[in-house]
Amino acid sequence: MERTFLMVKPDGVQRGLIGEIVRRLERKGFQLAAAKLMRITPELAEIHYAEHKGKDFYAPLVEFITSGPVFAMVWEGDQVIALSRALMGKTNCLEAIPGTIRGDFASHTRFNLIHGSDSPESAEREIGIFFKPEEFVVYDRAI
Ligand code: CMP
Repeated sequence: MERTFLMVKPDGVQRGLIGEIVRRLERKGFQLAAAKLMRITPELAEIHYAEHKGKDFYAPLVEFITSGPVFAMVWEGDQVIALSRALMGKTNCLEAIPGTIRGDFASHTRFNLIHGSDSPESAEREIGIFFKPEEFVVYDRAI
């Protein structure tokens, strides 16, 4: 069983797309393990996007990601990292094909609605940045 960090970005929250995005992940068969609506501080943005520091899109990206609430989530399931990224679609809005979340709803590469970890290493790192162990739920699997 794999875990990944997924986040509805400020544009997705403001456009009322939390439910649509959660629905697609649930329909795929993944299970929500933790979730919260929160604001990302500039300090947290700097940690989360450390790998992009120095790139031309870094400053506007930090401004965007701190501009409103995000919906941070941890999802689990078999191959959830790769499969959730397939559901998301490509980062570049011109390459995100219809049928994916970005392909259906995003028309800008920065305002691309959702973030998803791209490897087991980044999933572990990002989950640790955003969530404490006590924020995870335990399912009793009675149903
Ligand atoms: P994500 O892959 O979640 O994390 C890095 C973010 O930087 C990416 O989503 C986009 O929101 C943004 N980004 C990446 N490339 C560009 C780009 N060329 N122009 C503008 N924003 C970008």
